[in-house]
Amino acid sequence: MDKIRVKNCKVIKLPIIQDGKDGCLSVAESFHNIPFKIKRVYYIYNINNKNAIRGMHAHKKLQQVIFCINGSFFLRLNDGTKKQDIILDEPNIGIYIGVELWHTMKRFSEDCILLVFASDFYDESDYIRNYSQFIKYLEHKNDFI
Ligand code: TYD
Repeated sequence: MDKIRVKNCKVIKLPIIQDGKDGCLSVAESFHNIPFKIKRVYYIYNINNKNAIRGMHAHKKLQQVIFCINGSFFLRLNDGTKKQDIILDEPNIGIYIGVELWHTMKRFSEDCILLVFASDFYDESDYIRNYSQFIKYLEHKNDFI
C-alpha cells in the first residue's frame, strides 16, 4: 500500500495469529492498535449492487477504523486538499479515518464485508454529507477560536 498522504489518516495493521489449516485470528484492542476507545462496531455486507457507492461524507468529531474482512473494495479519501485512493483487500489491514476526512467507498466485490470500529455512538449531527459544506466547514471552523 502507498504511503498515506491525506491528513488524519493512517494504515492500521492488526497482528495475525496463524493456526495453520485451522484459520487465522486477528485482534483489535482499544488504545493498542485502535487509537481510541471503541464505543461502536458496525459491519456492512450483502452489497448486491455492483454500482453501490457508500460513504460520501465526513465527520466532525468521530474517528473510525475500517477493515475489509472479506473480499475487496476501493476507498477514496479527500482531506479537502489532498486525495488518495486505496484498495482494501486484506482482513488484517485497516485504515484509520480521523476527523474531517471525506470518504467514499465503491467497487465492492460480491463477497465484500466491511467492519468498522468507531469512537462514539451514532450521531447524525456529526456527519457532513454535502461536499461543498465540507469545504466550507474546513475554511470556517477556526473562525471563532
Ligand atoms: P451511513 O453512515 O451513511 O453509511 P455509509 O457511510 O456506509 O454509506 O449510514 C447509512 C444509514 O444507516 C443511515 O441512515 C444512518 C444509519 N446508521 C445507523 O443508524 N447507525 C449507525 O451506527 C450507522 C453507521 C448508520
